[in-house]
Amino acid sequence: MVRPLLVLGLLALGRGDGLMDALRRNQYLQTMGVDVWVSRRPASVADAVVATGDMVSAGALAATPQVAAAASAVPPTVARGTADPPTITTWESLRSEVLACTKCPLHGSRTQGVFGVGSREAQWLVVGEAPGAEEDRRGEPFVGRAGHLLDAMLKAIGLSRGRNVYIANVLKSRPPGNRDPKPEEVAACLPYLMRQIELLRPRVMLAVGRIAAQNLLATDVSLGRLRGKVHHFGELNTPLIVTYHPAYLLRTPSDKRKAWEDLKFARSVFQGLNPT
Ligand code: URA
Repeated sequence: MVRPLLVLGLLALGRGDGLMDALRRNQYLQTMGVDVWVSRRPASVADAVVATGDMVSAGALAATPQVAAAASAVPPTVARGTADPPTITTWESLRSEVLACTKCPLHGSRTQGVFGVGSREAQWLVVGEAPGAEEDRRGEPFVGRAGHLLDAMLKAIGLSRGRNVYIANVLKSRPPGNRDPKPEEVAACLPYLMRQIELLRPRVMLAVGRIAAQNLLATDVSLGRLRGKVHHFGELNTPLIVTYHPAYLLRTPSDKRKAWEDLKFARSVFQGLNPT
């Protein structure tokens, strides 16, 4: 629900991202099921804030980014040499390899491999865990309920899979019953994601959920401790930000506010990069 204060606040705005941006952002936040509040004070309004009853300052968040120690550039499975990195060099040949892959037993239970979706020119890469039932059926990442929430979250920071973001998973095949990926499945599949990253060369990466974050950063640190920091991925030191998985947010809507903080943080990191 948009609080009446919002309209008054927005009319007083006239700065920052501008009225239309703020209206659009709040519309998306409502889609995410996040209550939108704004301060009566114009100085706070520009941050178009989310809360379930209280105020959160985006500025406060952006002011205290911790830069994490660069995580290992090489995921554990590759570093240990347990999987052969694919030698594919084009998007289409890589896609064909993924769709025909039989490196792990999941190929026997999947309907199809789920390669990735979005602009191959995108500067943003979002990485999730693995296809669910709907993704397995349709062959595209994040098209179920969690996917709709992810789209709303991305839209709130100006991203869309049709235009300026690429979305891929750690696993390209659905684990039965949506169980967590097994280490050997990750070992077999992660090299595909590494090749996608090499082809895309994203400027910013957003890992959604524990599985994506821990595998990309080669760590077993909890998601809670990985949030709110800029990690760096790979030889190019690509900034990587961690947030909650949308499926978790569907189960725990009270954490949507924190996810919004993560998204604003990621956007501020991206905006702080030098132009290409
Ligand atoms: N969850 C994921 O992590 N990825 C998908 O593609 C769908 C749900």
